[in-house]
Amino acid sequence: MIISIYGAGYVGLITAACLAKLEHQVTCVDIDTKRIAMLRKGQCPVYEAQLPELISEAVQANRLHFTDNFAEATKRADIHFIATGTPSLPEGNANISQIIAVAVTVAQQTERDCLLVIKSTVPVGTGDALQVRIDKELLKRRQKIRISVAANPEFLREGSAVHDFMNAERIIIGGKAQEIAPLQIVYHPLVAKNIPLLSMSRRSAELAKYAANVMLACRVSFINQISQLAGALGANIDEVRQGIALDTRIGPHFLRPGIGYGGSCFPKDISALVYTAKALQIDASLIEAIAKVNQLQKNWLIERLQHHFNNKLAGLKIGIWGLAFKPGTDDLRDASSLVAMKSLLAAKAKLIVFDPAALLAAQKLFINEPAIRWCETATEVLTASLDALLIATEWPEFRNFNLHFLSEKLNKAPLIDGRNCFTLEQVKQAGVAYYYSVGRPQVMSRREIICA
Ligand code: UDX
Repeated sequence: MIISIYGAGYVGLITAACLAKLEHQVTCVDIDTKRIAMLRKGQCPVYEAQLPELISEAVQANRLHFTDNFAEATKRADIHFIATGTPSLPEGNANISQIIAVAVTVAQQTERDCLLVIKSTVPVGTGDALQVRIDKELLKRRQKIRISVAANPEFLREGSAVHDFMNAERIIIGGKAQEIAPLQIVYHPLVAKNIPLLSMSRRSAELAKYAANVMLACRVSFINQISQLAGALGANIDEVRQGIALDTRIGPHFLRPGIGYGGSCFPKDISALVYTAKALQIDASLIEAIAKVNQLQKNWLIERLQHHFNNKLAGLKIGIWGLAFKPGTDDLRDASSLVAMKSLLAAKAKLIVFDPAALLAAQKLFINEPAIRWCETATEVLTASLDALLIATEWPEFRNFNLHFLSEKLNKAPLIDGRNCFTLEQVKQAGVAYYYSVGRPQVMSRREIICA
């Protein structure tokens, strides 16, 4: 198929590269000329495993090319994927102005029957509204062609998006059966690998995306709230989690306690769904509670520090390992690390920070901040005779770090692990003087374990 992808952002680039891999002819268009120029030079603007290789392979095979010229992308395509951003507006609703702009432009420029596919996460009913708008545009042009609108939400995780596309657990397409049939051809190679392809109404497809993300975020807030209870009651959240995970109705996945979820999706999708519910006068208290619990959990690091130092943080040298909202990405959007950094700067502490991928992005957020020392390695952070070390992102290099070496470097300084990178056994054997972790008893070396 001849496919155009509008939006060379995170979702657009993954979709473009993967569809090219599936042997389609893909044009990826973006209004950001600098971004397009970078991509044309073979540089990948997104930190994502396998993506640079996939892009260069597709470009070499002449199955993928980039342009900032809309007309070039619009005229030949059988299928137009919209993968532009839908950021939150101040009220929490999703900003779909870019989606509308692309749809109207396609309607104004295309000369052939085609399918317009909404890949971005959009409020339920957006597809219906776009269909009406497109039909109006075609009427204005006295065009006899048909542009059908389909929903095709993505379920890509940052850091494993290529894998998630090529090994999707399901593909959802929403719209009138005969109109969305071309998507069966688009995804045929994946369906041939027994990946389920679910056809449903457009509105169901749009709502399924929100429901999936809200359910995932709910599991995170659930285990975090239970970890608060475990920590206060001297229980161990790892054991509690084992105790519930064997129930097949619950399962073990997506129940890792930590300092809360971040990223560009969960927070925005929860706000958008709450907004939709409120507009319909439907109670959204459960969905709102997910966000509330998450916001509280983001304070866990600073609360442990205040507890350990009796609220006297001014002048302390605090190391932070990990800034990205999760490992495998350089994305800082809604990262829990930022909450700790801002609180510590406000408390006049000194920060010594490292992240394997997100350092540059963080430096842009805290330009010329004199109280922050930016380090090139995890070990460099330890050379600053720290008063405490925080872990905010569970990068593998932290989880595999030599704990004996770490324990020596820290000496009496507490290790405050917001992502439970280590087992209590490991920490005890390494002789870490003070170890705080989420929902588990505090470990004090060479002394009794006491409840947090
Ligand atoms: C998510 C959804 O997983 C994906 O399907 C959707 O398309 C986009 O949003 P992403 O935001 O990239 O993907 O990351 P994900 O791996 O889902 O983690 C989201 C956040 O939850 C991260 O901050 C992560 O640290 C946190 N998390 C996840 C936990 O705290 N505990 C867990 O057990 C899992």
